[in-house]
Amino acid sequence: MNETNQTTHDAEEDVRNRNIKIYVNGEIVPREEARISVYDSGFMLGDGMWEGMRLYNGKWAFFDEHMDRLFDSCKAISLDIGMDRDGILDALTKTAAANGMTHDVHCRLMITRGVKSKPFQHPNLSISGPTIVIIMEHSKPAKHLQAKGISLATVPQVRGLPMSQDAKYNSHSKLNCVIACLQAEQAGADEGLMLDPHGFVNTTNACNFFIVRKGEVWTSTGDYCMNGVTRQKVIDLCRANDIPVFEKNYSLVEAYGADEAFLTGTFGAQTPVSLIDGKKIGSNDGIGPITARLQDLYRDLVAQNTQS
Ligand SMILES: Cc1ncc(COP(=O)(O)O)c(C=O)c1O
Repeated sequence: MNETNQTTHDAEEDVRNRNIKIYVNGEIVPREEARISVYDSGFMLGDGMWEGMRLYNGKWAFFDEHMDRLFDSCKAISLDIGMDRDGILDALTKTAAANGMTHDVHCRLMITRGVKSKPFQHPNLSISGPTIVIIMEHSKPAKHLQAKGISLATVPQVRGLPMSQDAKYNSHSKLNCVIACLQAEQAGADEGLMLDPHGFVNTTNACNFFIVRKGEVWTSTGDYCMNGVTRQKVIDLCRANDIPVFEKNYSLVEAYGADEAFLTGTFGAQTPVSLIDGKKIGSNDGIGPITARLQDLYRDLVAQNTQS
């Protein structure tokens, strides 16, 4: 059992979240009244897609990129969202307004294939049209993650080939990731470092993974991991700021020997990694200089993207 019980999604406690309002298929209701059917395709089968997004200054950061991923995934699984991007933005805007939220907000937008007529798998049994749920919380990533960094354990669960369940689906079914997370926890770490089918370092169970070696930023080729919005922003920022960046295969030897390592994701932006399989990463306690620089660049990018 992990002594500290840290996760990359630790947020500062905010009591306002006890009384949030949740969007369920066009209705915005108090948290305790928000319900979906036990026949819902998402509940029964994990048949749905979701996006995690953040609101700053009244604007959703990188909204277009999140919608590109969502609409591509839903098209690939023939899930008709029943609304366009403007419709989704409108639903998000109404939910934020009902909650009086404008800044430091995290949202989980969930779309499933809807309510089934019978408790079986066939998509034709999903007869209601999609179920759309929006949960928004006041959210500031916990500061202790920045100071200490998180620990990773390499886990037996791998990222599979795209023809099994493509890691690019941000699907309701996250069992592959949940198993990896459990394995990491059982190994005493905060999050699982997952390899690809060839044994190269790929990603973690909930975030994308980067290392820094001799001033170069490395991440996996991207073939087996979530096409993270934050991952792409970090790569773009490196390119725009003359920080050498490579999407390449590399092994645990190079990860253990890195000067810095960090995770990326919409929630935590860039979260430093201090330990992998019990081995200390680099000589910094907590965050290293390139990770810190990328955090600053990313913060500025979010501010530009969400200015009014
Ligand atoms: C498995 C996994 N990897 C990485 C990410 C990070 O993606 P993003 O940067 O778009 O939040 C997510 C987020 O949903 C994820 O589920």
